[in-house]
Amino acid sequence: MVPRAFSQTARRDAKAVVPILDPNSLDRFVDPLPLPVVAKPLGERALPDKSGERVPFYRVPMRAITAQLHRDLPPTNLWSYGGSVPGVMFDTQCGQGLFVEWANELPTKHFLPVDYSVHGAGPDTPEVRTVVHLHGAKTPPESDGYPEDWSVPGESRTYYYPNQQDAAQLWYHDHAIGITRLNIYAGLLGLHVIRDQAEQQLGLPNGKYEVPLVLFDRHLRRDGQLSYPSSWVPEVLGEVPLVNGKIFPYLDVEARKYRFRVVNAANGRLYRLSWPHEVEVHQIGTDQGLLPAPVAITHVVLAPGERADLVVDFAPQRGNRIVLSDDAFTLMEFRVSAAAVSDPSEVPARLRPVPRAAESSAVKTRWLTLDELKKGMSASGGMLLNKTPWHMPITEKPVLGTTEIWELANLTDDVHPIHLHLVRFQILDRRRFDVFQYMTTGTLRYRDPARLPDPDEMGWKDTARVDGQTVTRIIVPFEGYAGRYVWHCHNLEHEDNEMMRPYEVLAART
Ligand code: C2O
Ligand code: CU
Ligand code: CU
Repeated sequence: MVPRAFSQTARRDAKAVVPILDPNSLDRFVDPLPLPVVAKPLGERALPDKSGERVPFYRVPMRAITAQLHRDLPPTNLWSYGGSVPGVMFDTQCGQGLFVEWANELPTKHFLPVDYSVHGAGPDTPEVRTVVHLHGAKTPPESDGYPEDWSVPGESRTYYYPNQQDAAQLWYHDHAIGITRLNIYAGLLGLHVIRDQAEQQLGLPNGKYEVPLVLFDRHLRRDGQLSYPSSWVPEVLGEVPLVNGKIFPYLDVEARKYRFRVVNAANGRLYRLSWPHEVEVHQIGTDQGLLPAPVAITHVVLAPGERADLVVDFAPQRGNRIVLSDDAFTLMEFRVSAAAVSDPSEVPARLRPVPRAAESSAVKTRWLTLDELKKGMSASGGMLLNKTPWHMPITEKPVLGTTEIWELANLTDDVHPIHLHLVRFQILDRRRFDVFQYMTTGTLRYRDPARLPDPDEMGWKDTARVDGQTVTRIIVPFEGYAGRYVWHCHNLEHEDNEMMRPYEVLAART
């Protein structure tokens, strides 16, 4: 059968530039939504701390694979963790630590265009290098995936994840300096769910009624292969939307409540998800687990790196088809069965306490700018944090066990999703300011009163949208481990060039 969206001429003449695929040429809702395979441990290993305790040991190979992204497309070359994109999913319990051996079994040549002018990606560096970071995890520094701790094909790294934190949906992804955007675009991403008893006792929809939705977009050529700009660009927004690695999938659902755990794993797209108005949707959680109480919503805004935990009630929708879309495109369809079913699941009015962190608990306030380099200031343009490139000495050194306020002052016109490794934080407020006056005279003039975060941001976060020309204040308890971590913009093109900085948590003096 000749796929409709696939040009035979393109296949014969492989050297010709293959045109970009228009997703409107594809039939919608012809592939079922794929669900990630749950990772299985290979055995157990003793902790290095002499306690003798043994914890599960996993091994995840990174490999080149092919996968069909749509019924009518030829297979696409991808890089994967454990054989699929998204990769194998870790389904874990709070307090149950685990080891993962991340094995780089990729080819030695990248299949996406490396821009050697980007910092850390010079021609003297091995072209294929990977390092895994578990986003949202309280991980000791040696297992956190520092961007320069990469390994090359044939090598592996074994990381320890203590999982000592509240239930949340985390995700793991590549973090190699200078090529993170390419490695994630190639498919190096996957899910890591932590569960705990407090959450399990709530009676939320679970088992097959709890479904992860991993969102990203890609440029695809008409031969089904990924396309990525040959030199660095500040933003990559693909034409083709994927959910769990499929284009326009559908999901058969029963007429009852479902829990959808959504991750924005895109390089640069900010999703504005919207549900049809007649559908009852509650947001119950954010990046770092449950909100204090469910929030009724009709749409959700998610910048790259952010997560939303949703409960959708399909009970009043028997026999209907419901389309989930974003401002830019249709994402997927839910097909509600006609049969009435009983639904024992609940969405309690109170989910868990999330006390607002008191500003008075902060021992330090830092003013940190988000800056755009104009062309000419560097080879390719690019963005910085606090006007400081990656390789400069560490300037942010919070003390373990203390709380700080970070005032993120965005001097650009764009939203930058700012992420800190290791910690969780709360958003205090956002306030627009006069950027021109600040840049020309150094004085700060606010344009309007501070705004509280949206109700669906009133939980623990690890990634916060910092709007253009706005100061966003976050309050951060530095808990967990002393050592070197990073903070950065989660727009992957920005992160690679060079909107990322190391920071160091200092051990508390005794
Ligand atoms: Cu989602 Cu530093 O990463
Ligand atoms: Cu992270
Ligand atoms: Cu950015």
